[in-house]
Amino acid sequence: MPVVAVIGAQWGDEGKGKLVDMLAEKAKYVVRFSGGDNAGHTVVNPHGVFKLRLTPSGIFYKETTSIIGNGVVINPAVLNKEIDDLNKRGIDTSRLLISDRAHLIMPYHIVIEGQEEKALGGKAIGTTRKGIGPAFADKVARTGIRAGDLLDKEVLKGKLATALEKKNNMFTQVYYVEALSFNTIYKQYCEYADRWAPNICDTSTVLNEAITRGEPVLLEGAQGTLLDPDFGTYPFTTSSSPMSAGACLGSGIAPNKLTHILGVYKSYQTRVGAGPMPTELNDETGNKIREIAHEYGTVSGRPRRCGWFDAVAARMSARVNGFNSIAITRLDMLDTLPRVKICTDYKIKGKTINDFPASITTLEKCQPVLEEMPGWQASTAKTRVFSELPNRAKKYIKRLEELIGCPVSMISVGERREQTIVRRSLF
Ligand code: IMP
Repeated sequence: MPVVAVIGAQWGDEGKGKLVDMLAEKAKYVVRFSGGDNAGHTVVNPHGVFKLRLTPSGIFYKETTSIIGNGVVINPAVLNKEIDDLNKRGIDTSRLLISDRAHLIMPYHIVIEGQEEKALGGKAIGTTRKGIGPAFADKVARTGIRAGDLLDKEVLKGKLATALEKKNNMFTQVYYVEALSFNTIYKQYCEYADRWAPNICDTSTVLNEAITRGEPVLLEGAQGTLLDPDFGTYPFTTSSSPMSAGACLGSGIAPNKLTHILGVYKSYQTRVGAGPMPTELNDETGNKIREIAHEYGTVSGRPRRCGWFDAVAARMSARVNGFNSIAITRLDMLDTLPRVKICTDYKIKGKTINDFPASITTLEKCQPVLEEMPGWQASTAKTRVFSELPNRAKKYIKRLEELIGCPVSMISVGERREQTIVRRSLF
């Protein structure tokens, strides 16, 4: 039975939310496996328009269990609000499970991130300031507090006391900001414990038992490969792996259990936050794409940097994730452009390179080699079959397929579920 991972192949915001919402209909389990509430998944379905941050997109289906996996960092305050909002809008969230191994974002993580970004000044990462990085740093430093710790308030008390003492020393002696109150945080997290204890369990076991029973599982990516701490534009990256390997690690599903890895690419390129982006368009075309496509951050509202499709980065992404097929999203956003361009290679000091460099200093110097194609200048929003796309749009998709070296299984031409060309069914 299918175990499908949906992976962001660029800098996030590829439109995974819509595809996951669509695919979730066939899944029994939908799992978030990385990141935290830095993610913003916009889902448009018969229930309305939703901007999910932590909750898996499977939440809209009655038969589906939604899982926040061990690879996610959870801010319980954000989770409370998101679930309350969903309930107010009539969505039943009782089938949400939370991994006992998932780490918690604590109030001090948000303070630390604010201070760190401030200290970096002009070199700031431009994070979402949700405390994601400091929470993952504590996980690796082995000083984190996990969802499972909420199940025993004495354990929680001990871990919080140890962690907070260190953080407060740092606040008062390094950052010169006020110390946080143990009692306030402890009380708050005990309330979260009372609310979430029934949902916390070993979700890896739940998932593996489901796979053994032959039930379909969908792994829902957040962020994108170019934000991966290893393969992305380090240090302008996020702090957990949004890749297919991250899907396994962050859910407790072994790599040999995955039956399909779907890479999601937007038909052009965007990026939020700082860091190099070789195909960025700081001109009228860039502004036009931003406005037509409403490229503003779901979480932060920040304008996204827009540019032409970067096939060099795309190839690297396909290679390190092992995509079985790819989805091209938001094709309709290019409908009005007289010309479209694709970056096929980079040029650096007169030399052509076609692999994505590890060093951002090198990447910053890379000039895109652009291939120009005539735009199709016709609406694709109502197209449901590949053969009925305008010829020039078909050519564009085929060229992307060729440059990435992976077949296109889906093309999204609008925000609604049905506005999708499905060339191959994954479930
Ligand atoms: P953090 O994940 O909040 O630490 O932010 C690190 C970098 O990742 C920043 O450039 C963010 O703008 C970017 N980032 C984090 N989450 C997302 C996302 O869901 N979409 C796009 N960019 C993101």
